[in-house]
Amino acid sequence: MSGDAIQSVLQEDRQFPPPEAFSADAHISSEEQYQEMWQRAKDDPDGFWGELARENLDWFEPFEQVSEGDMPDTKWFTGGKLNVTHNCLDRHLENWRKNKAAIIWEGEPGDTRVLRYQDLHREVCRFANVLKQLGIEAGDRVTLYMPMVPELAIAMLACARIGAVHSIIFGGFSADAVAERNNDAQAKLVVTADAGWRRGKELPLKEAVDKSLEKSPSVEKVVVVRRTGYDVEMVPDRDYWWHELMEGASIECEATPLDSEHPLFILYTSGSTGKPKGVLHTTAGYLLGTTMTSRWVFDLKDDDTYWCTADIGWITGHSYIVYGPLANGATTVMYEGAPNWPDEGRFWQIVQKYGVSIFYTAPTAIRAFIKWGDDWPGQADLSSLRLLGTVGEPINPEAWMWYHRVIGGEKCPIVDTWWQTETGGIMLSPLPGVTATKPGSCTKPLPGVVPDIVTKEGESLGDNQGGLLVMRQPWPSMLRTLYGDHDRFLETYFSEVPGSYFAGDGARRDEHGFYWIMGRVDDVLNVAGHRLSTMEIESALVSHAQVAEAAVVGFPHDLKGEGICCFVTTTVNDNSEELKAELIAHVREQIGAIATPDQIRFAAAVPKTRSGKIMRRLLRDIAAGRENIGDTTTLEDYTVLAKLREEDE
Ligand code: WTA
Repeated sequence: MSGDAIQSVLQEDRQFPPPEAFSADAHISSEEQYQEMWQRAKDDPDGFWGELARENLDWFEPFEQVSEGDMPDTKWFTGGKLNVTHNCLDRHLENWRKNKAAIIWEGEPGDTRVLRYQDLHREVCRFANVLKQLGIEAGDRVTLYMPMVPELAIAMLACARIGAVHSIIFGGFSADAVAERNNDAQAKLVVTADAGWRRGKELPLKEAVDKSLEKSPSVEKVVVVRRTGYDVEMVPDRDYWWHELMEGASIECEATPLDSEHPLFILYTSGSTGKPKGVLHTTAGYLLGTTMTSRWVFDLKDDDTYWCTADIGWITGHSYIVYGPLANGATTVMYEGAPNWPDEGRFWQIVQKYGVSIFYTAPTAIRAFIKWGDDWPGQADLSSLRLLGTVGEPINPEAWMWYHRVIGGEKCPIVDTWWQTETGGIMLSPLPGVTATKPGSCTKPLPGVVPDIVTKEGESLGDNQGGLLVMRQPWPSMLRTLYGDHDRFLETYFSEVPGSYFAGDGARRDEHGFYWIMGRVDDVLNVAGHRLSTMEIESALVSHAQVAEAAVVGFPHDLKGEGICCFVTTTVNDNSEELKAELIAHVREQIGAIATPDQIRFAAAVPKTRSGKIMRRLLRDIAAGRENIGDTTTLEDYTVLAKLREEDE
């Protein structure tokens, strides 16, 4: 009906301009200012980024060139020397910030620690000396497999101080996943903890490391933080307690001057094929990108208490708990545990307790908060909040509205930030003092970001036409390579649309130039905001003796955004619940709890096209319980489909 149609148009156009007072104080405060910056960055990227790099970073030696070479192999700030930790720590000790809280940490059991910039600097220097003493040199890879404790931030900064390359592995990954990443990076050292707290239970990290080392011989030594007191076995001459090593370590450690392009870290992420991809970020470009985007998007000020709820094991934690905020001299909150421990009000109690003013979380968390009910946030004083953010997946408009109303009290701008492990920092996002936001849209490109929506052939599409999201120009914080596999880097990101960076996401741009992300177009699932490869889960399944073939697809899931559905063909005639449970446990063992399948469906065969490709669209429709199964003329075996459908009933 026409009334309805008009209403839905109005719905889509709901706009939320920033409060005037917010704009007046913001780092970027008007549309004109944004337009001018964006245009300048597009037309004269070297002038734009060069100026920012000189003004906002401390250099031991100035760079000679801003950018060198075309995408994909662009180098930034060549000839320059700097150190990330000098920029995140030392420079703040020269002024009043030396006594400012750098990290406010809260453990899951309720213990707290505050590290002022001086304290953090001292701990980082000491651990940097420990690393040297253990034989770690610039360029060596160090795996950090740790809970969300301050020692994780200290360890990553200590690596950066001496030019060692950290590779952080999220604590939810299994021993096998750790071994695979250790091997790929040829890591020499692992830093871990006895265990971490998660919903009152201990997550035995050291045990997993011990198991992983049976399969990753490059690792020579292990440093163990005592966190929970969990009983661990210490192997002589291999394993050392953090606190014992730190006791004797000097607090003096000069920051090593490193080339702009010196590798800073590797972070593994899922791709559509094969093993995890070791995304490599380097020093100056990454630091500049995270520094500027933290300031532009979160409007960080000296009196803010900023809290990003991500785990440091993911890129969000790297860029927006540690590097970006610290480079800005901000106070960053770090919380160790679960949002529903001891109850569902934990996050809001933390907001109240520390007077959090900027809060950054994921849509999957917001959907959980909604489910838990308005009472939990209602019981806390959230009046300190002035800005909210989301990241990780598209946010559905209802969740956006709830966040706006219940958490933001209808007064906080929301920044829906689109970016990726590969981009290093935020790319598309509202500017909180400028953009009139629309629920569900990540709005516009930041200065220096030149996106486009294109067809498979690389042709630009018009307004409101869905296509592939690409970047037309290089930016300083982009990944430089996939560790040890430059060909895969070229193939994954630059072969789909020659000359452009291909993000793997589908999107459309509306008539106001606002971007709407439609999700992944490759075989990557986005489960609770985390990327998981269907291929990896499939190969974990087929590594089980009773599995002949497996096909994994995502399906819409109320809380997680996407759930994991596995179609499995067995070698035995066993379709039992026991085998299902065993397969679920097997995937957890191979990849980790984050990859736990939601559904296992046994099938006589996996439907494939004539060329042997798994018919994923079909399986997705079946997994989602949709009626229309689409055009199946290329289906090799109709009976398979019928059998799968029967399973549904
Ligand atoms: C998705 C996380 C919609 C997207 C920083 C991207 C989003 C992938 C958003 C990267 C957003 C991230 N709206 N989708 N605001 N942010 N995504 O590497 O599919 O863990 O490609 O980086 O998450 O996930 P990654």
